[in-house]
Amino acid sequence: MSNVHSPLLEPGRIGALELRNRIIMAPMGSNFAEADGRCGERIQAYYEARAKGGAALLTMGVVSIAYPSGTSSPYQVGISNDDYIPGLTEMARRAHKHGAKIAAQLQHAGKTAMCDLAEGRPVWVPSLPPKPSTSMMGALTKEELTSFASTIGRHKPQFRVLDKGDIEQLIEWYAAAAARAQAAGFDGIELHAGHTYLVAGFLSPYYNQRDDEYGGSLENRARLMVEMIRGVKARVGAGFPVWVRLDGEELRSKGGITLPDAVGAARLAVEAGAVAVSMSAYATFTTGVAFTEAPTVHEPGRLMDYATEVRKAVSVPVIAAGRISPQMAAEAIAAGRFDFVAMARKLLADPELPRKLVQGRARDVRPCNYCYVCISEIFLNSRIKCPVNAELGHEAEAGITPAAAQRHVLVIGGGPAGMEAARVAATRGHRVTLVERSERLGGALAFAALGYAGNAPLLDNLVHQVRELPIDVQLATAADAALVGRLKPDAVVVASGARRGTGGLAGAGLAHVWTCDELQRQITLEDAGGTARIGLPPADAAAGAAKTLGKRVVVIGGGMVGLELADYLLAHDRTVTVLEPTDKAGRELSIALRWRVMDAVEQRGSIQRSATVREITPTEVVWADAEGKEQRTGADSVLIAREATPDTGVAELLKDCGVPLHLAGDCRGVEQIEGAIRDGFRVGCEV
Ligand SMILES: Cc1cc2nc3c(=O)[nH]c(=O)nc-3n(C[C@H](O)[C@H](O)[C@H](O)COP(=O)(O)O)c2cc1C
Repeated sequence: MSNVHSPLLEPGRIGALELRNRIIMAPMGSNFAEADGRCGERIQAYYEARAKGGAALLTMGVVSIAYPSGTSSPYQVGISNDDYIPGLTEMARRAHKHGAKIAAQLQHAGKTAMCDLAEGRPVWVPSLPPKPSTSMMGALTKEELTSFASTIGRHKPQFRVLDKGDIEQLIEWYAAAAARAQAAGFDGIELHAGHTYLVAGFLSPYYNQRDDEYGGSLENRARLMVEMIRGVKARVGAGFPVWVRLDGEELRSKGGITLPDAVGAARLAVEAGAVAVSMSAYATFTTGVAFTEAPTVHEPGRLMDYATEVRKAVSVPVIAAGRISPQMAAEAIAAGRFDFVAMARKLLADPELPRKLVQGRARDVRPCNYCYVCISEIFLNSRIKCPVNAELGHEAEAGITPAAAQRHVLVIGGGPAGMEAARVAATRGHRVTLVERSERLGGALAFAALGYAGNAPLLDNLVHQVRELPIDVQLATAADAALVGRLKPDAVVVASGARRGTGGLAGAGLAHVWTCDELQRQITLEDAGGTARIGLPPADAAAGAAKTLGKRVVVIGGGMVGLELADYLLAHDRTVTVLEPTDKAGRELSIALRWRVMDAVEQRGSIQRSATVREITPTEVVWADAEGKEQRTGADSVLIAREATPDTGVAELLKDCGVPLHLAGDCRGVEQIEGAIRDGFRVGCEV
C-alpha cells in the first residue's frame, strides 16, 4: 500500500541489522528500571509495547556501563556485571517476539553522574569543567527543589580528571558491557557520545581542556571515542553493529562542538568501525530555555540539518532526531537527507504510531503535545509519565480489555476527560452517549489549544476518535436528572470540568474584563450572546479571541493558563503584563515548558510576581508589589486567569439519580490534561 509515509515504512539496514521500517525508538532514560538497575517487568513491558507498536529498532536509553557509578538518574538500567544479563535477555526476547530489533545505548554520565555526586564519589571528567552559570533554578517550586536536591545530596562536587589508566579502564567497561548486551541477545550497540556525558565531554572543545593526546585537535578529542569503538568491536566481533550518537552542535556554549567538528567526529567514528551515526544536539544550561532547544527540541525538525550534513560526509546510514513528524521524516528520507528517524516523545505518547502509519491510520495516532512532562520528570529524578498517554509506565497492567457485558454509559462533558472516558468505554464495547452543553467538543482543551498550540493536535485526535467510534454525541445538551431518566444509562461519567471565575476581584464586572470561563465559552460557542458581544466570527473563534482583546492586556494570575495566554497574546501583537500573587509563576507547567513560556513572556512582556491586585478600574489595574507599594498598570482588556476550582454542579445535581456516578478530570480535582486523560482512561476501564 502506498501512502505519504511510504519512504518511512520501507525496510532498511544498519550494518548487518535488517530493520522492518525506518522508525527507531530514540534512546530515552525512563527511570523504569528496578532500584538495583535490573530490567524488571515494568521496563520490559514498556519496551515491549513499543516493539508491538511497530518500531523497527528500540534503543534502550542510557544503559550504565559502570553502574551505579556514572549514572545520571536513580533508576537507570545497569549492565556493569553479569547479574544484569537475565533481565536484559528477557527484554531482548520480548522485543524480538514482535519483530523489532533492540540496541543498548551504553553510557557513562561523566560530570552529570548524579548518583556519584549524591554518594560523594568524584565524577569523571576530561578536565575540570567551567563553573556552570545558570539562572534556571529560581523558577522551581520548593517541592521541586527538594526532589532535585534529594538525589544530588549535599556533597561538594569532586572531580576526577581521567588519567591513562582510567581511560583504559573505561574502554574495558564499555567492551565488557557490549559483550553482555550481545550475550543477552541485543542486536547492536549505540555508544552515547553526546549530551555532555563523558565521551561528549572529551569531544567538546568547551569541556575538554586537556593538553595530552586526548585534548586539543579534533583527532585528539575524538581519540577516546575512536578507541572505544575499536575496543568494543574487538570484543563483540567485526560483524556486530556498533554506532555512535553525536551532537551536531553544542548550543549556548562558546567554543563548544560545532557542526564541522561533528562531521569530523562522525568520519572518525566510521573509520573506526561505526556502522551508523545518530545525530542529536545539546544546549548548555545557561538558561532554562536551553532545555527545549536540544536535545528535546521545541521547533519541529530544527536539528535535522545536522543529520543531513553528516550524511554528505559518511558512507553509512544516518539517524536523525528532534521533533520530526512522520511526514517530514518520509520526505527527508525520500530526498536522501538521512536514512532513519529516531522518535522519542511521539512514541511515549503513542507506542502504536508506526503500526498506525502502516495501516494508513495517521489520524488515530495520539499526538505528543510537547508539554515536556516526560523530560521534566527525568530532571527531577522521577519515573517518566506522559499526560496524553495514561498507560505509559503501566504497560504491564491490563489496559483496555473488552467489557464483560455491554452497558449503556452516559458521559457528561465533552472535554478531554469526557472524550477519553467515552473513547475507552466505547472501545471496550459499551454503548456510549456523550453529552456536551456547548456546541463543540473540546471543553477546557479547546481553550488550552488557544494558549498553547501543542494542544491542538491532541484536541483533534480526541474529537476524531470520538467521531470514529460508535459514540452518540449530543451537543448543546445540558445534563440533569430528566436526561438521565430519559436515557436510562447503567453508569454515568461526570466530566464537567472546572470553573475559572473572578475570585471576587473589585471591578471584575467591568465590560473589558474577561474570565477564562467567558473566553472558553466563546471558543466552544457555548455562549452565543458572548460571541456577539466580542464580535467573533464563529468559525474562527480561536483567532478572533485575540483580535477582539484590546492592545494593552493585563493578565491576573501567572499560573499555567495565565502564562500561556500571555504568550499567545504577545505573539498577537498585544502588550501584556502578568500579575502573579505568589513568587513563583507557571507552577502547573512542567519545569521545562515553564522555563520556555516564562522566557517567551519575559522577553516581550512582563511578569510581576508577589503582586496583589486591589482593584480593576475602567482604565487600570491597581495592585500592590512585594513591598506593599501601590502600582497601576494601564489596561484596555483584563483577563482573570486565577486558580480553577472543580465544577461539582452536575455531580451534585445527579447525586440521587440512582445510577452509579464516576467523576473524571477537573470536576474531581484540577490536574489539567494529565489528570483529565488519566481519569478518563481509568473510568473508561472501570465502567
Ligand atoms: C524522557 C526523555 C529521555 C531521554 N533520554 C535520552 C537518553 O537517555 N539518551 C539520549 O541519547 N537521548 C535521550 N533523550 C533525547 C531523545 O533521544 C531525542 O533525541 C529527543 O527527545 C528529540 O526527539 P523527539 O522530538 O522525538 O522527542 C531523551 C528524551 C526524552 C523525552
